[in-house]
Amino acid sequence: MAIQAIILAAGQGTRMKSKLPKVLHKVSGKSMLQHVLDNGRKSLVDQSTVVIGKGADLVRESLPENVGTVVQQEQLGTGHAVMVAIDEIQEDGITLVLYGDAPLIRGETLDKLMAYHSREAHQATVLTAELDEPYGYGRIIRDGKGLLERIVEERDARDDERKISEINSGIYCFDSKELKKTLPKLSNDNAQGEYYLTDVLGILKQEGKKVGAYITDDYEDIMAVNSRVQLAEVQKIMNRRILEKHMENGVTIINPETTYIEEEVVIGQDTIIDPGVMIKGKSVIGEEVTLKGNTVIENSEIADRVTVESSTLKEASVGEESTIGPYAYLRPKAQLGRRVKIGDFVEVKNSVIGDDSKASHLAYIGDADIGKHVNIGCGVIFVNYDGIKKHRSTVKDHAFVGSNSNLVAPVVVEEYGYIACGSNITKTVPKGALAIERAEQHNIDGWVKRKFKNLEEEF
Ligand code: UD1
Ligand code: CA
Repeated sequence: MAIQAIILAAGQGTRMKSKLPKVLHKVSGKSMLQHVLDNGRKSLVDQSTVVIGKGADLVRESLPENVGTVVQQEQLGTGHAVMVAIDEIQEDGITLVLYGDAPLIRGETLDKLMAYHSREAHQATVLTAELDEPYGYGRIIRDGKGLLERIVEERDARDDERKISEINSGIYCFDSKELKKTLPKLSNDNAQGEYYLTDVLGILKQEGKKVGAYITDDYEDIMAVNSRVQLAEVQKIMNRRILEKHMENGVTIINPETTYIEEEVVIGQDTIIDPGVMIKGKSVIGEEVTLKGNTVIENSEIADRVTVESSTLKEASVGEESTIGPYAYLRPKAQLGRRVKIGDFVEVKNSVIGDDSKASHLAYIGDADIGKHVNIGCGVIFVNYDGIKKHRSTVKDHAFVGSNSNLVAPVVVEEYGYIACGSNITKTVPKGALAIERAEQHNIDGWVKRKFKNLEEEF
């Protein structure tokens, strides 16, 4: 049986006050619409069709190729939106209707909705919830036996109907054939002059078909975003869910309120995450890693037992037992071996650093291939840019680069090469040689006394 989904995403989202179409706003690093698609896929949705309208081009560009789109030129209501997409739906099977601005809907909730729909042999089932403050939502009207009769919108409801606390989430499961047959029967004779998808259930009921409501007790699942305040609320819930999953897997998160982790991040057991840490993108963090406060990690790989303190890592990889920071900056293609030490105010970009090498303080390492057991002294600069092009340098195993040296690329330091501090290195340093490049020191006796004639101290 085919499971197909229609995702409504044509609305303007006026209250977001944004140039970006509403469904493209991100929650935990991924657009709301993509969350909905991914969650549908977890429920084995075979095919999704997104109804787009406002900002159609941008929304279409954001989607993977296997997701179909249809354009709803004018937003004439939720029923109309589904009409526009209905030719994409095959007759056999069921159709889920989802909202592109309700990203918290979980696969398991959709599974429960569909299971209930099949078990009860319904032609249509709506996902509902009981709310203390149902204002604004469509209300679920049940008959004397407690069975679903119809759905009434806030603006069309009578006073007694407005008191009903069971609301329409806007998420439905339809028998595809019945949905196709019923859509042409919708009218826009209502307070908003719109074609209401909700009316499909009332019509089916009147025709004697079986319709029903599945009440979820998880209100969070159905929250839709209409404003930036709601975007932040949904973000908070999504983040909490992600963090709880990691804690259940054996990760310690000291203060979940101030820790932000995006959905695709993988974290190993017994890793400890301090307050103020952000982990983004497709980052993979190993086991027994310690991430201390104010660390930001994006699309990076961190191996087991690494410690990172107050540092920023982007598209970097760090080998086992290395220590990073505080205040280090690992930029794209920084690839660090095992037991590497990158200390305070060290920046590494597009460089490979071998096992047991160190750059403990204040250095810039760009476009370099550094071997094992290399020491990069304080204040060393890999001068990789000549104003037009970048050049690479190589520093081989066991080399020692003294403090405040410049390695002017392209240049090679052979194994056990030793660079005296303060040198500007422009030529190869041979194996085992000391390279020293700086003016000789002259001492001028008595200079200070002659310069400052009225100094009183004796020296
Ligand atoms: C709708 C339901 C209401 C339910 C509420 C839940 C109807 C008539 N009402 O109301 O019962 O409680 O959702 O949030 O269905 N959209 C389109 N094209 C359109 C109109 C809407 O794509 O022509 C999309 C919007 O982008 C949005 C979703 O459908 O993602 C819901 O539209 P919205 O106007 O917000 O519905 P409500 O009036 O809130
Ligand atoms: Ca509306």
